[in-house]
Amino acid sequence: MPRVKIQNPARVAEYANDQQWYARRMTVQSHANPLREGLRLERTPEPCVIVIFGATGDLTRRKLVPALYSLAHQRQLSPAFALVGFARRDWSTEDFRREMRSGVDQFGRDVHAGVWESFAEGLEFNRGAFDDPEAYRQLGELLKKIDAERGTAGNRLYYLATSPESYADITRHLTDAGLINRNDHGPWTRMVVEKPFGHDLASAQRLNRLLLTHSLRERQVFRIDHYLGKETVQNILAVRFGNLIFEPIWNAQYVDHVQITVAESVGVEGRAGYYEEAGAIRDMVQNHMMQLVSLVAMEPPTAFEADAVRDEKVKVLRSIRLPDKDVGQWTARGQYAPGSIGGAAVPAYRQERGVDVVSATETYVAIKLSIENWRWAGTPFYLRSGKRLPKRITEIAITFKRVPHLLFDRSAVTGLEQNVLTLRIQPDEGISLRFGAKVPGPTVRLRSVNMDFLYGIAFGSEPADAYERLLLDAMLGDQTLFTRRDEVEQAWTLVNHITDGWKKLPPISGPNYAAGTWGPEEADDLIGRDQRQWRRL
Ligand code: BG6
Repeated sequence: MPRVKIQNPARVAEYANDQQWYARRMTVQSHANPLREGLRLERTPEPCVIVIFGATGDLTRRKLVPALYSLAHQRQLSPAFALVGFARRDWSTEDFRREMRSGVDQFGRDVHAGVWESFAEGLEFNRGAFDDPEAYRQLGELLKKIDAERGTAGNRLYYLATSPESYADITRHLTDAGLINRNDHGPWTRMVVEKPFGHDLASAQRLNRLLLTHSLRERQVFRIDHYLGKETVQNILAVRFGNLIFEPIWNAQYVDHVQITVAESVGVEGRAGYYEEAGAIRDMVQNHMMQLVSLVAMEPPTAFEADAVRDEKVKVLRSIRLPDKDVGQWTARGQYAPGSIGGAAVPAYRQERGVDVVSATETYVAIKLSIENWRWAGTPFYLRSGKRLPKRITEIAITFKRVPHLLFDRSAVTGLEQNVLTLRIQPDEGISLRFGAKVPGPTVRLRSVNMDFLYGIAFGSEPADAYERLLLDAMLGDQTLFTRRDEVEQAWTLVNHITDGWKKLPPISGPNYAAGTWGPEEADDLIGRDQRQWRRL
């Protein structure tokens, strides 16, 4: 149990009660359902202050504070908890509390006035510019005061929710102001870094050096990829390594190919400045899709523990071999033209506010990957991701090889497809297995049918937001669901290889798929060259 010093006597009693309640709850939970509860139940977060840099931005209102509030509501935060918003805007603490309340009302779940009031008491605002040493001196004072009043014990979780240009200033000034403890003893300091983590390999390496050389150690850096916080993404490991039946066939001997789709119906959502530079490959492939590939393809880790899991993930990335030539043969790029989605007309990418009218940024990308190791040699992985596709859907589909010999005559099996195991990440979270069955009747005829598992039905509740899990883990100091330095750099090495290849090709000359369709013809050709096709979703 965390040791804290609290000066206010009313809070001492409250804290003691809460700790007893936590202890009871954890005992009960640890007998409940370990996989669902996250496998590491005995730990509750220690007292701490979270400082969000860039607290007036959208992420804080939309994701971070609703997630923290929800943790408070479920009594998963330490009772000695506080949140400081740090930003340039001329807000008072009252303004900050009001704005965050409206964010929780809009984006949170189960808003309860009593819980909100006690949560809001721990919210403070520290106004200042990221490059102003005085702002950090003030922050230091505020943190001391909070420690004394709320018993937060000197533990700090800094959350960089700013644009990456400010990361250097923030880390330098925090270090200079003595607000970072690199040591193993004493109160802890951790830092959560939002994406984009660099723009290419060189900038990601620079950023890693910046964080790690003077200020922090790797075990203090929490690089966020919100896909890892999704229940269904974590479930990939649970399904693979919590069951006997899948693993023996999870390899090139049985798997024909794997398709990973991350389709979005939204456009750039007012983020043209960022997206014009990033494109689909940096926005989705370098991070989210590479994480999905790693989890599906990795070997069993030696333990369900941060470094063991990340060692195996990084090995997958290192085993991916990209051809040196003909990048146009194994990748496809697209950009959306005007079209319609769900009956509503939508403009072309080039017509979006802030986008260059002759922009060559890709809003769609498809890639064929080979993983050259014992498990996967010969089984291609096809990846596709795009904006303004007909619907939002993320899934991993594992298509198995055909049987070696079919007993039934041709006419009996016209409706029979290859077996497919689909892990549906979102929406309609679940898993389905497609296999052949006999159609009822006097003749032997086979048709493919589905066996479905649906999260909502099996567990009776919708999965929690990814940020809840990730913020909780950061407070617990558990890095399993955060990306390590070598992982991020290896993913960038792959992406650099592709973007360097693209530089040798003519740039995208114009829109090549209508909004509301499944991407450009080039993507169909890419998979078609292997006599396969994209799944129809
Ligand atoms: C973000 C990208 O990382 O992920 C966005 O920057 C994208 O462009 C988003 O829309 C998708 O996340 P989710 O959770 O909606 O699949």
